[in-house]
Amino acid sequence: MCGIVGYFGPQNPKEVIFNGLRALEYRGYDSAGVAILHQGEFKRVRAEGKLDQLGRRLESESFDGHLGIGHTRWATHGLPIERNAHPHCVGGVSIVHNGIIENHAALRADLKAQGVECSSDTDSELVAHLISQEISGGRNLLQAVLAVLPRLEGAYSILAVSKDQPNEMVAFKFGPPLIVGVSAEEVVVASDIQAIVPHTRQVIFLEDQEVAHVQGTQVTLLNHQGQALDKKPTLVDWSQEKAEKQGYPHFMLKEIFEQPRAVAQALAPHLCLESHQVQLDCELEESFLKDIERVFIVGCGTSFYAGLAGEYLIETWARVPVEVEIASEFRYRQPVLPPQSLVVVISQSGETADTLAALRLVKEQGVQVLSICNVPNSSIDREAQAHLYMNAGVEIGVASTKAFVSTLAVLNLLALALAKAKDRLSGPREAELVQSLLALPSHMETVLAYEKFFAEAAESLKAYRGFLYMGRGIHYPIALEGALKLKELAYMHAEGYAAGEMKHGPLALIDSHMAIVMLAPKDELYEKTLSNLEEAKARGGQIISIGTGEDERLKSLSLHYLALPQTEGLLMPLLEVIPLQLLAYHLADSLGHDVDQPRNLAKSVTVE
Ligand code: G6P
Repeated sequence: MCGIVGYFGPQNPKEVIFNGLRALEYRGYDSAGVAILHQGEFKRVRAEGKLDQLGRRLESESFDGHLGIGHTRWATHGLPIERNAHPHCVGGVSIVHNGIIENHAALRADLKAQGVECSSDTDSELVAHLISQEISGGRNLLQAVLAVLPRLEGAYSILAVSKDQPNEMVAFKFGPPLIVGVSAEEVVVASDIQAIVPHTRQVIFLEDQEVAHVQGTQVTLLNHQGQALDKKPTLVDWSQEKAEKQGYPHFMLKEIFEQPRAVAQALAPHLCLESHQVQLDCELEESFLKDIERVFIVGCGTSFYAGLAGEYLIETWARVPVEVEIASEFRYRQPVLPPQSLVVVISQSGETADTLAALRLVKEQGVQVLSICNVPNSSIDREAQAHLYMNAGVEIGVASTKAFVSTLAVLNLLALALAKAKDRLSGPREAELVQSLLALPSHMETVLAYEKFFAEAAESLKAYRGFLYMGRGIHYPIALEGALKLKELAYMHAEGYAAGEMKHGPLALIDSHMAIVMLAPKDELYEKTLSNLEEAKARGGQIISIGTGEDERLKSLSLHYLALPQTEGLLMPLLEVIPLQLLAYHLADSLGHDVDQPRNLAKSVTVE
């Protein structure tokens, strides 16, 4: 979603801010802009579309100041056109804003009644007007911001500067993340740590209702009433994996190929290689796990689908009932959480607004929350009481890939730890499962060899009207994830279905224009899945099947058949999702779509 970068320091602000915006590009946006001090005024340059467009406009611009702000905008209020791009400048004030000001209609009406003309359709510009009015009334920038804060409703983070205080920035947050990086020479304010770590690892994560007042290289933290807070910077250990494609045409393809390493890194902290035992490295004591009677898993998008797979894992191995829910539903439906419950929130970014709200709701009810995040120190990571990490490394592609398989690996570990705590896992079986987990990365390498197959097949797959992804048991969530990938990237209609539901609707869709992607590994439901395929084929469905080993029956029914290596049944999802990712990737690429930044989508959804 939108990205904020602000800079004060000796380097060329144009370069620093533009590079910072580049580092946030992966989050998704549709216009961008900067406002940088030049000869005592903020000079603004904005452009519709990608950063390259802004970069071209900035080429000929120079700035003599040492302070500026920049923004990548993901349109919410108003079209993604230059007029609506940030920064918004009113009088001598410039602001950038992430999130939504929910009372924008009332604020706009108020301003209109006072004869104020707006130059954009955004809610953000209204904040610039309000701050500017306060400054015209004699307040300084900080006082003006503090005066405006109580008038804003919604979820937002804002960075404001004023030409009258050319060494100052004021940042405030109530919702989307905002981080202040500090060093002896410079201060960087950004919505994402990626833009800060090239400069400093000393950072202050603003909490909701906190205000950061930057005066030169001095940063003061205040509450929203203006009282000083004693908050020291923390040292972040988020190694900035270079946002480079390392020879791959897209980040997504690079990340798909990084999956074996991601899974190995996710498993490593929790497995004892000598004893082949699971030793979950997280704050939950074994005695606590033993008493858990119900698990809730909450997330959005791909994280939600990982949670659905987690349900099969935990129920099968630990025999603990699990409910999995989309965070945006969970948070509003007054869920009943019995006392011996554990709520697991899954979020790659750790910033998804609905998942964060769900976490807060659970904490208010006094129930224990375990987060599974990829980004350490993200809001969800900071607020959860117990933590597991995906350890997938920085994921840039908007469509999640390696974070998904890492989450599956972590959910396997959680399920096994629960099973152990409840005496449901014998030593020999545990050792067998640990060996299977350790073998996953090498099996994944084998599956990645399918890349060429999909690169070649993409051309012919373009012809289909739609795609139906199906599977049974734990393969059903993977079918959902496969369909989501195709929608996100190729903008083609794709649906995920439990294969057993085929007769209850989807069969009506099947004809020779419909591609069926069937997950059919050899397990106890294999025969039933094959019957589904026979029915689909009899109606002209074109079948792409993914199974295990040499399987002549499956092959004879299919247009394309992909053989996966055999592993534990419940670990198959980590292998079978790879061909689905590759299918979506190559199809989208052959259609000429922006694979890393699909239209209208954002990596980190920090507003509802
Ligand atoms: C967005 C992203 C998805 C992601 C979802 C949840 O929709 O485009 O790839 O699965 O958010 O994100 P989270 O960071 O909470 O896992």
